[in-house]
Order: sequence, then structure tokens, then C-alpha cells
Amino acid sequence: MKIVVTGGLGFIGSHTVVELQNENFEVIVIDNLSNSSIEVLDGIEKITGKKPLFEQIDLRDKTAVQDFFKKYADVSGVIHFAASKAVGESVQNPLLYYENNINSLVYILQELNNKPEANFIFSSSCTVYGQAEKMPIAESTSIQPAMSPYGNTKQIGEEIITDVTKVSNLNAILLRYFNPIGAHPSNEIGELPLGVPQNLVPFITQTGVGLRKELAVYGNDYTTSDGTCVRDYIHVVDLAKAHVIAMQRLVNKTNTEKLEIFNLGTGKGSSVLEVIKAFEKASGQKLPYKIVARREGDVTEAYANTDKANNVLGWKTQLGLDEAIASAWKWEQKIRKQ
Ligand code: WQD
Repeated sequence: MKIVVTGGLGFIGSHTVVELQNENFEVIVIDNLSNSSIEVLDGIEKITGKKPLFEQIDLRDKTAVQDFFKKYADVSGVIHFAASKAVGESVQNPLLYYENNINSLVYILQELNNKPEANFIFSSSCTVYGQAEKMPIAESTSIQPAMSPYGNTKQIGEEIITDVTKVSNLNAILLRYFNPIGAHPSNEIGELPLGVPQNLVPFITQTGVGLRKELAVYGNDYTTSDGTCVRDYIHVVDLAKAHVIAMQRLVNKTNTEKLEIFNLGTGKGSSVLEVIKAFEKASGQKLPYKIVARREGDVTEAYANTDKANNVLGWKTQLGLDEAIASAWKWEQKIRKQ
């Protein structure tokens, strides 16, 4: 069974390609290499013994998207990761984000729309909940106005897919990720952030290897146990496995609705200081950090109610924060030596 993975050389995409191949799906990766490296294909091959088919396509090129689906007319499903994902950059350059994240989605859906049957998985984000009133956050929680163009592209993406499923053969699953971190246990693939990382864990590991002087902790005056923000950090391998289960659900037609939504998190919240402690434990070294002012747009806390994913998908995370941080650290040390 052929599955297309857009953004398949990116952080979550590459881990998902590995898990799909482990379950004997035939994978075709689409990536424009704008935020990924072609060597990731070798990492995937080292882990699974198989190199996925690869097409270097920019999904903003409508003709290229049309040609792709003509060439691979028999695909059973698409997992759509390809998108720009830097919150700050999206504020500076909103049109880039709307073009890249929305046009690409529309062009793919236009092709799937022509098919008698189409299965589609969309990378969404817990950012759609904003600051939820109640923790843990269930899927039924209302969506809040987006705090950035990036967040807005996720909300608009969800709406576009919802509208299309109502009038077409499209079956879709929206996966709302909490905070994905970590690397594959083989240490062959992991996160490769461009420039100065905006996300906590890559910044910590880069500080650990001496690439950054110190971590700035954005605020310790939040209403949490230690004053720092709380997030739900999920190991990328657990996250990747959920995509395989979701795709199996679609292709085996065990889905009960044409559109389903699942939170993907561990269900456990961890503060920034707890993440620092986990890093210090994994690395055996102190992390230099200082407390600075809050970062604009940060919510106080966000962690998932995972009941729906656990009960309906039959999926549960198997790895915890310590394992995720240890794998991220091992990966960081490897890539700095190269
Ligand atoms: C986590 C915590 C920061 C960096 C963002 C997007 C979201 C999603 C994932 C992606 C927060 C604190 C961070 C630093 C710090 N999308 N922090 N110092 O903000 O929960 O989510 O990334 O594709 O849509 O909004 O993740 O890793 O940036 O921050 O203190 O240098 O770490 O304040 O509490 P966030 P993050």
C-alpha cells in the first residue's frame, strides 16, 4: 500500500516514514528540502533497510502537484507534514506562511478530490486551543483565535479539510500535536533546526554542547508549581507511531466519521525547570540558564487529555520525558561531531 508523506525528510515526517516502513507501507516522500537535508534518506535507510521513493517537489507549484498525482495514481493515503513552522517568522512574513501552508494544502486536496476514495492525515497543533481554561485539554475544547499567522494556518487548514470532507470522498484525521521532542533510538535521524532554535529542547541541547552560551527561561512568574510554563513534551517516536495507527484506521475503514480529531500528547505536563532537570540528569552536566521576561504569546500551561487517542486509536505513549531528553542529547552530540 502506497502512502505519500509530504515533508517526509523533516523532524516528525522522517520518524513517521520509518514507522510506516516498519509496518510495510510503501512510502513516497515529497520534500522541497527548504528545512531538511537529503541525507535524512540515508538515515531512514539505515534504520529500516529501505530507502523510500523521493520526489523533490515544492507543493506551491500546482502543476508539479498535479503531475505527481498523475504519476502515482494508486496512492492509498497522504500524510501532510510539509509546512513552515516558526511562530516568530510567521509574524514577520505572514504571506509566506499563508502561501506555503495553505496553497500546498489546497493543491493536494484538489487532487485527492478527484479520486473515488482518499485518505488524508493533517499535522495540526495544540496551538489551536490557545490558553485553554481546563487542564488537561480534550478535543472538545473550543478553539481560540490564533495568536500568530503560523497558528492561523493550522486553524484554517483544519477548516478547509472539514469543509472538503463534507462534500467529497475525502476521509481525514486531524492530529493535534503537543510538544514533539527527542530523536530515534538508533541515533540515525533527529531534529535539525535551522539557525538559532526557537523551541526549548533544541536550544537546551545546543547550549549543552556549547553552541549557545545559556538558555533564557521565559518567565518564572506564571501560576504554575515553580512559576515556569508547563507543556506536554511527547517523544517523536511515539508521535510517529500514532500516524501509522491513524493511517491504518483510514485505509481499513475503521474510522467512524469522515473527519476525526485526536490530541497527541503524553497527558503529563512538565515545567521548563523540570525539562532543564531532565537534561541535567541525562547529560550529567549543569545547564547554564537565566530567568528573563515572559515571551509574548506563550500560554501558561498546555497538556493533553489523551483519552480519545488512547481509547479510539488504541495508542498510548510508551516513552517519557527522560527518555526523550536523553535521545535528543545523544543526537545533538552526534551532529556536532560531524
Ligand atoms: C516551550 C516552553 C517557552 C525557548 C511552539 C509553537 C507550537 C508548536 C511547538 C510547532 C515555553 C519556554 C522556550 C527558550 C524558554 N509548533 N522556552 N526558552 O511555545 O509550547 O510551542 O512550538 O511546530 O505551535 O507555538 O514550544 O519549545 O517554543 O517552548 O523558556 O529559549 O519553553 O516559554 O514555555 P511552544 P517551545
